[in-house]
Amino acid sequence: MRAALFLLLFCVVGLALGVDQTNFKTCDQSSFCRRVRKLQPGNSKFALVPGTLNTYSDSVTADIIHKDNQHLFVFKLEALQGNTFRVLIDEKSPLRPRYKVEHALKDTPRPGTIKVLNEDGNQLTIVSGPNKAVIIGDPFRIDFYQDDVLSVSVNAKGLMNFEYLRTKPNTEAKNEVDGNVDAAAPAEATPEAQNAVKPAEDEDPGAWEENFKSHHDSKPYGPEAVALDFSFPEAEVLFGIPEHADSFVLKSTSGTDPYRLYNLDVFEYLIDSKMALYGSIPLIYGHGTQRTAGVYWQNAAETWVDIYTASNNVVSSIVNFVSRSRKADPPAAQFISESGIIDAFILLGPTPMDTFKQYTDLTGTGNLPQLYSLAYHQCRWNYNDEKDVETVSENFDLYDIPMDTMWLDIEYTDAKKYFTWDQYKFPNPLNMIKNLTDLGRHLVIIIDPHIKRDTGYFFHNDCTERGYYVKHADNRDYEGWCWPGAASYPDFFNPEVRKYYSDQYLLSNFKTVTSDVMFWNDMNEPSVFNGPEVTMYKDLIHYGNWEHRDVHNLYGHMYIWGTFDGLIKRDPNQRPFILTRAFFAGSQRYAAIWTGDNTADWGHLQHSIKMCLTAAVSGLSFCGADVGGFFGNPDPELFERWYQTGAFLPFFRSHAHIDTKRREPWLYPEKTRLVIQDAIRKRYAYLPLWYTMFYEHEIDGGPVVRPLLAHYPKDKDAFGIDNSFLLQDRLLVRPVLQQGVSKVDVYFPAIDDKKTGDLWYDVDTYQRYEKSGYESIPVNDYKVPVFQRGGTIVPRKERHRRTSLLMQNDPYTLIVCLDREGKANGTLYIDDEKSYGYRKGNYIHVNFAFENYRLTNYFIGTPKYDSKSWIERLVIAGLEKVPKSATIVIDGISKQLDVLQQGKAVIIRKPGVHVRMDFSLRLNN
Ligand SMILES: *[C@@H]1O[C@H](CO)[C@@H](O)[C@H](O)[C@H]1NC(C)=O
Ligand SMILES: *[C@@H]1O[C@H](CO)[C@@H](O)[C@H](O)[C@H]1NC(C)=O
Repeated sequence: MRAALFLLLFCVVGLALGVDQTNFKTCDQSSFCRRVRKLQPGNSKFALVPGTLNTYSDSVTADIIHKDNQHLFVFKLEALQGNTFRVLIDEKSPLRPRYKVEHALKDTPRPGTIKVLNEDGNQLTIVSGPNKAVIIGDPFRIDFYQDDVLSVSVNAKGLMNFEYLRTKPNTEAKNEVDGNVDAAAPAEATPEAQNAVKPAEDEDPGAWEENFKSHHDSKPYGPEAVALDFSFPEAEVLFGIPEHADSFVLKSTSGTDPYRLYNLDVFEYLIDSKMALYGSIPLIYGHGTQRTAGVYWQNAAETWVDIYTASNNVVSSIVNFVSRSRKADPPAAQFISESGIIDAFILLGPTPMDTFKQYTDLTGTGNLPQLYSLAYHQCRWNYNDEKDVETVSENFDLYDIPMDTMWLDIEYTDAKKYFTWDQYKFPNPLNMIKNLTDLGRHLVIIIDPHIKRDTGYFFHNDCTERGYYVKHADNRDYEGWCWPGAASYPDFFNPEVRKYYSDQYLLSNFKTVTSDVMFWNDMNEPSVFNGPEVTMYKDLIHYGNWEHRDVHNLYGHMYIWGTFDGLIKRDPNQRPFILTRAFFAGSQRYAAIWTGDNTADWGHLQHSIKMCLTAAVSGLSFCGADVGGFFGNPDPELFERWYQTGAFLPFFRSHAHIDTKRREPWLYPEKTRLVIQDAIRKRYAYLPLWYTMFYEHEIDGGPVVRPLLAHYPKDKDAFGIDNSFLLQDRLLVRPVLQQGVSKVDVYFPAIDDKKTGDLWYDVDTYQRYEKSGYESIPVNDYKVPVFQRGGTIVPRKERHRRTSLLMQNDPYTLIVCLDREGKANGTLYIDDEKSYGYRKGNYIHVNFAFENYRLTNYFIGTPKYDSKSWIERLVIAGLEKVPKSATIVIDGISKQLDVLQQGKAVIIRKPGVHVRMDFSLRLNN
């Protein structure tokens, strides 16, 4: 008890040292959140207007009316290809147009076809393939079925809200009604009494202008919030809506604030928190043992999401489910956005992987990155000068630790003017870049969106003269405060501004880099040190006369789009690498993300997995966290474990705040340095797998890292697990995430109701695990518990090199782990690791299959890329007995090979087959 109390006190002190939460709004401090949250369930005022229905080949439209205020809305339900529907609701004749999100979807979605089944007084049924939408007229509601199973209900809780644009009321007319009137009338009230109740938006003191701390929001258009609830009758857990430093499974918001989506630069963010962070993807999934479904709420304004589940605790919520009627009170989410329209995509799955791909079909997938960007990155705020960069790079070689990319944070610039260099610290950037390139290394430098207001700075002068900055309503350029001091912010929503910005990346403009240098876009929420909640005022004006309020969560996305365009223009045949902190739906098309300014403690290490899993199912597979923690100084043990975790997450970069102690691996005790070397080498050995997974992500949209439920959808005990993750369906990774442990409990998921487990092989020892459930695995300092699934083949490269570039022609080892039938298969993807040649077919994509003691390769498409690599080794785990020998047949010529037993696996050395050749290899018993 005392220990617990002490811990509690300790935590409270810990909090006090972290973020100043009072810098950020609670729901209660935000007028629209407060207004909309007053609405009680079960009392929807919205109804379809009889006689307004129109049907088309892919959609239906109708008018909707709010029964109290008689305001009219237009409703459209569209069927899309791939088990997806779209629900659109806007005002029928708004006072001014309402903002509709652009540039998040990769294309116009492909329409499906519909059949209108039956239409009676209050109900309309629409069929599209195996899917059905039942639209109920009054109160308005839509039930989406797949194969006659109700999967998503819209407005089933009756929490729809749509504040129509209105003229500002005469202030004297106020105060007729007591300020505390609730929007929901008491049940016994007469209809007349209900009509007398003013809507919350007319009563809330912040509806027409509001203050937060010293900041004023003029709100010239008044209240304009939209909200809608989505129920998931088949679901037991909800997940999604990045970015939050919270568990993978979303918690109930009963008694807490909703989860918030508003891109913000949060200093020393808290974990286990629903507070907004740097990026926002308004996408949620509901998952149960039978089905998965999702909703993408396409709105770029500030958004709060209320979660209705039984309990904050996953396990007890599942228990509660069994004991109460799920159909009556299913898990649900209510999205509440400050402005815009209702535009919701309903993703009907039915499997988790189907649902994830339905989302990437809409918003796109990540491009295959250059291979080196999947290797290890070394960063710090800051590497101080050219000598520092050179010494760090040399020391990685001296200590024989692979490292591909050096990074420069803001201090490389001349006074934080981007596209310039500090001439004293970096007098010869081209030489420095050449020195790195000669070693097979790369350089990434930072470019942020805040522009120093300095009349000696070309970028500022151009933006000023041409009117490129975000403006106040009176047309003055907005001026904020950021790294350079006084700064303004280009309006990247203007295509001309994006073009200007992207042109700056041309080598004819940015002459002090080469086309091998890539970019890091930070502070693009945007961060404004002296702005409300460390960002811009909502009443600032963007291109098209939209308020910042309407587009806030898209600002960072528009910025990285500009960067991406610039890099393509600079060198059309080199795949860009961009790292961004802010993001929105669709940002995966342009950039990788990291989880921002985390802290050197065990909790933040644990959250790096939770946060990247949520990002991955939301389209953003290329995610990592600052290894070691940005703030604070990791002790040797935490640093070691963080490297081991980072080595198995997609984006692998060490980074640190300027006030932390230097922490290059050789500055730690020798053992720590060796553990780090070992972890990084593990990453490099698996680079062929990483590269293959990212290629397959680009073509099929499946996440690279996956929660267990992606492949074990029936195992309830796996739903809430977020200390482990899968790499595709091949590896299960459960890093050590606690201090001072000598074993970890690894959960092996079940494939069916009978709790049957897959076979899993420890990748270090080939020790086999056959049962589902927890298994205690001993760990030493070097151990990263990673297991390969029986039934898979994984490619590796096992020679130790300085950089990934030097591994390009190295031979492959194939790790074959057999399932219970003695079978396995798995793919390998190879290309030039850099260019877009693969889009023209210049690659090798091969599937290896093992069956009946025989390994055969099948090329997917014609193998065109001229690789120099061979297969040098096979490791086969799970054979009943050691074969006497092996015979390989290449081009009709057979050759005998030796078989060695090594621990629990069998090794076949030197099959001597080129990766482009057909072969068949037989084991002789
Ligand atoms: C590049 O490498 C050479 C040779 O090691 C060294 O003399 C020079 O200082 C380096 N230049 C920069 C800018 O790092
Ligand atoms: C690989 O094996 C699995 C069964 O383990 C099978 O479902 C799948 O179709 C196989 N894939 C290929 C490409 O052979």
